[in-house]
Amino acid sequence: WKDLVEFQGLWIGAHRGGAALGPENTLETAMLGFQAGAHFWELDVQLSADGVPVVIHDETLARTTDAPVLYPQRRPWSVWDFTQAELETFAAIPGVWRIPTLREALAVTRRLQWLVNVEIKGRAEHHDRLVRETLALITELDMVPRVLLSSFHLGVLRRCREMHQEVKLGVVVKEAVKDPVRLVQDVKAFSFHPAQRHLRRETVRRCREAGVPVIAWTVNDAASAQKLHGWGVSAVISDRPHELIEQETSKED
Ligand code: G3P
Ligand code: MG
Repeated sequence: WKDLVEFQGLWIGAHRGGAALGPENTLETAMLGFQAGAHFWELDVQLSADGVPVVIHDETLARTTDAPVLYPQRRPWSVWDFTQAELETFAAIPGVWRIPTLREALAVTRRLQWLVNVEIKGRAEHHDRLVRETLALITELDMVPRVLLSSFHLGVLRRCREMHQEVKLGVVVKEAVKDPVRLVQDVKAFSFHPAQRHLRRETVRRCREAGVPVIAWTVNDAASAQKLHGWGVSAVISDRPHELIEQETSKED
């Protein structure tokens, strides 16, 4: 991740592994993102009922798994109401592709010598344990240099920093913010992750000047990626990394 500060090109990250390539937040889809040439992947992490960090975006299993079919009586299928062993039995599409644990996701990333942006989601009352378990896994698997931990929740980022002084942190924001550099520096983070629709050129300039890489999401078309790159954005997170990479490569030829 260190290289991102000085890098003049544009890094492409695979959002949820590359959500246009296959079921989101699965190892198989992340593999496709890797094969397409993405510089890193982004995943979302939450806690199971028995305290295992698992890779899933929504607070419920309804949209991305077959849990509602298997357990109609366990509505609303909140992620934290199921143990990891139960979560493992649900498929993202019938018969295949299940919810990975963070341990598996980190292990695959390490084997590929790839990079991963782990976004901490979940309920506020789970955050303390989720942060603790996530940091424990990152340390155990020797993944500190390959992980960028991010969150919309500043409290989560502060907690991460209290518990670990070296891991890289990213501040994710949905809305326009007045002083992004201060926000990043306040929580001793590395990067700023704005939603592209609220991003202004001036914001990117200020970040760049302060040595703060900007990682914009979710950027799915090459023209937007180009524009953002022109503004000084360091990386974009995309559902369609394969298309953006193709565009970058054809530019170089
Ligand atoms: O981390 C950037 C992006 O993933 C945040 O939005 O809802 O896709 O997790 P979401
Ligand atoms: Mg995310």
